[in-house]
Amino acid sequence: MKTMQAVRIHTYGGPEVLKYEEAPLPKPGPGEALVRVHAAAVNPVDWKIREGYFKGRVNHSLPLILGWDLSGVVEATGSGIEGLKKDDEVYSRPDIARDGAYAEYIVVRETEVALKPTSIDHVHAAAIPLAALTAWQSLFDAAGLSAGQKVLIHAAAGGVGSFAVQLAKWKGAYVIGTASNRNQDFVRNLGADETLDYQTTRFEDVVHDVDVVFDTIGGDTQKRSWKVLKKGGILVSIVGPPLAEEAAAHGVHQASVFVQPSATQLTELAKLVESGTLRPIVETVLPLSEARHAHELSQTGHTRGKIVLRVV
Ligand SMILES: NC(=O)c1ccc[n+]([C@@H]2O[C@H](COP(=O)([O-])OP(=O)(O)OC[C@H]3O[C@@H](n4cnc5c(N)ncnc54)[C@H](OP(=O)(O)O)[C@@H]3O)[C@@H](O)[C@H]2O)c1
Repeated sequence: MKTMQAVRIHTYGGPEVLKYEEAPLPKPGPGEALVRVHAAAVNPVDWKIREGYFKGRVNHSLPLILGWDLSGVVEATGSGIEGLKKDDEVYSRPDIARDGAYAEYIVVRETEVALKPTSIDHVHAAAIPLAALTAWQSLFDAAGLSAGQKVLIHAAAGGVGSFAVQLAKWKGAYVIGTASNRNQDFVRNLGADETLDYQTTRFEDVVHDVDVVFDTIGGDTQKRSWKVLKKGGILVSIVGPPLAEEAAAHGVHQASVFVQPSATQLTELAKLVESGTLRPIVETVLPLSEARHAHELSQTGHTRGKIVLRVV
């Protein structure tokens, strides 16, 4: 049996259950490609799945390779593949129900992959798919954000937030972002018109009449967000479905987004990177063998931009 190095879990639990070890080399089936992973980004969903948070929602079998964000090179293609060929440089947010990208190789469906932006390296390309697709699908597909609208983006310095600020500005929106003191300048440099230090200012005291709230925090932050919306506005959450009754009581709309793979949107995002409109922010790069440390960092909840594992 051919093998590769990968980071797997054999049981759910803390960062110590991550094992850097040999795993079977996967083979592409019809409509799939085998990709040599050069870099894999770390997302909070990785440690949530590691902890068993998705048990019952996604049918994983163990051992499981974590990590659903990657940039790499096509090594081989299965039958029926038309848009990809060996040696294409690609990036992807693959299906989280299957083995992930903390590995030397991954099998992905053609529908989940696009050519990576040529102007950046694999480490920076790997930082894009999951977080940028989430921001795109939340702001544009769910909220229908348009030019001239006002949007409040919570956790604007994080993985999703740092893309959301840039995408909202590209659309022509007025952007208000929340972050701690250390990230105020950082979020402004991403393009935000206003920033708020959530640790010293209650955002609902100073923000009013926004068209869209992008909730990446949930809980109390979500509850306090209703009142900053103008009538007919929308609260979009990626962390917990907002209650329809609360939305109705405030005369606004609500939506909950769970990011979906999209080759088409990845191609649009690649164009924005090539034109210099969109910039992935990578705060930390670690070797694949240090996935455990990467999870510990991600779980602090204070990552600026992204953490990426270098595989090649
Ligand atoms: N539904 C989906 O499809 C989907 C997709 C992607 C992510 N998510 C979820 O969305 C959440 C955010 O993901 P992410 O990748 O952006 O996480 P992340 O990169 O780990 O977010 C870290 C950021 O959160 C900020 N932060 C922490 N507490 C805050 C608060 N109370 N108010 C404002 N900012 C705060 C931190 O800023 P400071 O350091 O300045 O405090 C830091 O920059 C996670 O729970 C993730 O699982 C869901």
